[in-house]
Amino acid sequence: MNMVELRHISKRFGPVQALADVSILLEGGQTHVLLGENGAGKTTLMRILYGMMRPDRGTIWIDNKEVQFKHNRDAIACGIGMVHQHFMLVENMTVYENIAVGFEDEKGLALDKHKMLHKITCLAEKLRFSIDPLAMVRDLTVGEKQRIEILKTIYRHSKIIILDEPTAVLTPQEAEVLFDMIQILKEQGTSIVMITHKLKECLKIADRISVMRDGRMVAANMENKDLTPQELARQMVGRNIPLNDTRRSQVISEEIAVKVENLNYTVGGKKVLDNIHFHIAKGEILGVVGVEGNGQRELQEVLSGNLQPDTMELQLYGERVRGDTRAMIDRGIALVPEDRLSAGLVPSLDICENVVLGYHRAGKFATGFGLLRLKQWKQFAREAMEQFAVKASSIHVPIGSLSGGNQQKVILARVLSRKPRFAIFAQPTRGVDIGAIHNIHSRIFEYRDMGSAALVISADLDEVRALADHLIVMYEGKIVADGKSDDFTELELGMLMLSGRREKEGF
Ligand SMILES: Nc1ncnc2c1ncn2[C@@H]1O[C@H](COP(=O)(O)OP(=O)(O)O)[C@@H](O)[C@H]1O
Ligand SMILES: [Mg+2]
Repeated sequence: MNMVELRHISKRFGPVQALADVSILLEGGQTHVLLGENGAGKTTLMRILYGMMRPDRGTIWIDNKEVQFKHNRDAIACGIGMVHQHFMLVENMTVYENIAVGFEDEKGLALDKHKMLHKITCLAEKLRFSIDPLAMVRDLTVGEKQRIEILKTIYRHSKIIILDEPTAVLTPQEAEVLFDMIQILKEQGTSIVMITHKLKECLKIADRISVMRDGRMVAANMENKDLTPQELARQMVGRNIPLNDTRRSQVISEEIAVKVENLNYTVGGKKVLDNIHFHIAKGEILGVVGVEGNGQRELQEVLSGNLQPDTMELQLYGERVRGDTRAMIDRGIALVPEDRLSAGLVPSLDICENVVLGYHRAGKFATGFGLLRLKQWKQFAREAMEQFAVKASSIHVPIGSLSGGNQQKVILARVLSRKPRFAIFAQPTRGVDIGAIHNIHSRIFEYRDMGSAALVISADLDEVRALADHLIVMYEGKIVADGKSDDFTELELGMLMLSGRREKEGF
């Protein structure tokens, strides 16, 4: 197979035009990245190529011959394989059963278990990893399961493998392993189509890049040279957006807003937070850098009153603060939580209700009589929606139907419009579209520029570096480095995150 082409594909789901006249050319021996924000139509387009869906209009061509796929069996027979975002493995079966069962093209092979096991081991070796074909799928890590899915497509002689957002479920280290495997596959003559919305990885591995937006192909088959992240972001979003816009504080004051000392928290004899101490000035953003699981989550929970530490002295503008979540909110500490749906929002309630959630007993919403209060709620929600650029048709739309970015803006609106004296932002843009990321970062900068103090905790190193004036690095519950953001290089921070040291041992 040298060439796969989708021509003028359209597909509608009820009122949603998921694809409108989309064409793409996939040449053999290449890694082609299909880039676009959530809902752009990437998965739908590739499901059509994989024979899982029929287009309303448009045609599929392989080596200049038109093909008709009525079922994904037809696509598989033409050498097309797909690894879905949610794996389709049977957890309670072995690796070899998942790979081989249901694929009986070679006479007898499917029945000859010994040969089958041998073939799987050989295929894995070719991709330079080892796997026990008799292992149960449920015992594998996410990365291993993904490799089994890829192996399965190879076993079925795929010449072109579609990977739908393969890095979404992986750690950065596992993603590197995947990228190496993609390289090996390419060297062996397999073409890859990788769907993603991440610019960095797109530029890293693509030979060709196609960008989709709102069901249309914005730019197809671009060569990955001379392309910048800025240019790709503009195509994805449809307007210019600065990436990792860095604005250092011009308003840092001498006055200490937040002071944390002697913070210790132990779980089962293990120190999760080990003598943590820092301070944040008025008008300053402090960033917490670290590989997830090094105490950041506990830090955010302690500071927002959700978790009681063994010891801590917390001062806000010179006053001692202690107590539970209620007490913390009353003293002006606010948390923009990491898990929007479980800790922040109620999906079935509308925007208006979510905006006032958690504050409805306080301040102007608690006084007055029913009707008046309701009117104030609505007015407040409308203003917040406008100020935070929440995209929705009205304040009565259930929050669960909004995109991740818009949900996050509702939370920011709720938290920041109360003008807290100290705000904690935990993973503020996780799962958020890049257009919304810029908006959220701007709101955080504005909050700081009013002279407030902020703590930003994020697993995204680029994000923390862009936002924070000052950084602390956490490693195994301790602060292992502390300094101005601009005084650290990316490499230094990487080293500190991974080893707790600034340089490799022996240097
Ligand atoms: N099976 C479906 N039924 C109804 N709407 C769908 C279905 N699949 C996708 N859509 C809609 O089509 C649009 C494109 O979705 P999708 O192809 O999943 O985008 P992407 O993969 O780029 O995030 C979205 O608005 C989505 O809600
Ligand atoms: Mg998708």
